[in-house]
Amino acid sequence: MQPIFLTGFMGAGKTTVGQIIAEQLQAEFIDTDEEIEKQEKREIRTIFETEGEAYFRSVEAAVLRSVTKPATVLSTGGGIVLKEANRRWMLENGLWVFLECSLEEIERRLEDDLKRPLLKGNARERIQTLYKERLALYRQASWIVQADQGSPKEIASSVIDRIQNAV
Ligand code: S3P
Repeated sequence: MQPIFLTGFMGAGKTTVGQIIAEQLQAEFIDTDEEIEKQEKREIRTIFETEGEAYFRSVEAAVLRSVTKPATVLSTGGGIVLKEANRRWMLENGLWVFLECSLEEIERRLEDDLKRPLLKGNARERIQTLYKERLALYRQASWIVQADQGSPKEIASSVIDRIQNAV
């Protein structure tokens, strides 16, 4: 099985859905944010605060490459699509899936989220700006799966169905 890269905006459900897909396909689950924290021995929030976003993005790109291997479901950070080289990597080295959620749904899910460094300040405005900047990038994915409605299990099933129908 080729690696599956799950992408989408913060709050799209990449981790929850990814864990279910991995379990059902008996694949390994990897979360790039978690790998970054392990490697850096500090939280993402701290990396952003002390080193800045550019540093975080370079570690993220390296981690994406180092964890890509067969029989893996990878949940990626929402900004992974920003680097053109990451988008190419996902297209050329596995199956790149975009879990698409509407802006309204993302806003609802991220309400009260204080942990994500990019939402500091005026969160609603930040979400809208980032969403608009990124949507066209996410849509370059191999597959787009609607993730607005349905339980994580149902969304995972629609990804799995597509994988199985594609073989
Ligand atoms: C980011 C999303 C976060 C994390 C970091 C930056 C982004 O991951 O990688 O805070 O740029 O959208 P999640 O999408 O898992 O929240």
